[in-house]
Amino acid sequence: MENYNYNNVWKEGIFDGKVCLITGGSGTICRQQAAALMKLGCSVSIIGRDQKQVDEVVKLLGKIGNKNAKVIGLGGCDVRSIDSMVSVAGKTVEKLGKIDYVICGAAGNFMSDFNHMSANAFKTVVDIDLLGSFNTVKACYPQLIKNKGSVIFVSATLHYYGVPFQSHVGAAKAGIDALSNALAVEFGPIGVRCNCIAPGPIGGTEGFNKLVPNKENFESKIPLQRVGRTSDIANATVFLFSDAAEWITGTVMIVDGGFWHMGNFNTYDAYPNVLRNKLLEKPKL
Ligand code: HXC
Repeated sequence: MENYNYNNVWKEGIFDGKVCLITGGSGTICRQQAAALMKLGCSVSIIGRDQKQVDEVVKLLGKIGNKNAKVIGLGGCDVRSIDSMVSVAGKTVEKLGKIDYVICGAAGNFMSDFNHMSANAFKTVVDIDLLGSFNTVKACYPQLIKNKGSVIFVSATLHYYGVPFQSHVGAAKAGIDALSNALAVEFGPIGVRCNCIAPGPIGGTEGFNKLVPNKENFESKIPLQRVGRTSDIANATVFLFSDAAEWITGTVMIVDGGFWHMGNFNTYDAYPNVLRNKLLEKPKL
């Protein structure tokens, strides 16, 4: 987990008394989101399939040391099952008192070309990512309306263009954007906000390692000249849950250093220093 000082940027205690349920909470990105929320006072419920991994992350998060923030771990949960989700939502309320915030972070991913992808392989990822997000919101809905809560879906940018071997993930993530938009509009009048965060290439994650096998010079292909950090996603999370975002719903916040805008015409590749040197010449008015 990254050692990032959230209190340098955000006011201490802004989430005191709040509770967040996070599916996929033991994953690399979600555990950092949990850490940020806890540092600012929010208690978290880490939901995952693998009990051992959940326990490890709960132990790590337990060391954060904010006396207002508790952490619990609920392993053995499959987001594809509504019963499983209803059960962990109930246990979260039992142990932490309520649910204000929800992060739908559980995701499945493997590289597979269309020819070798079975119908069940496609369905598996769509079920984890998209149906899993639906089930998570469904299970937390009574708490969300009661507490005028807020949801963050974890999307991506890969469905804005075509990424080979990722047809299942692209389809699922496009569905997540659509789900978030529809729920934002439906839930707005009852005071519940829904937004997506779309991470770009975040170093150290399984997704990054699978999608970027050749990392040589990769940073130079990103406009902001570095790969993402899990704290970049955590900061976006804090913003979207905070009161500063009280009029923001139905948005997809892309956190990718400008990466997806590069598209296929990657001029950084062709003219790396020429372009930069021109930009750094004396400004012309
Ligand atoms: C082809 C595969 C496969 C592979 C599984 N399947 N792995 N097909 N290539 N590598 C097929 C199986 O053969 C089976 O189909 C079906 O998928 C279900 O597989 P199971 O193993 O039974 O499913 P399950 O145990 O539920 O596991 C699902 C899983 C999961 C998706 C494979 O283990 C998983 O999510 N692993 C990776 C987790 C991960 O990488 N998370 C990070 C997400 S990052 P058949 O037909 O044989 O029954 C992310 C970022 C995306 O999402 C965007 C980045 C920009």
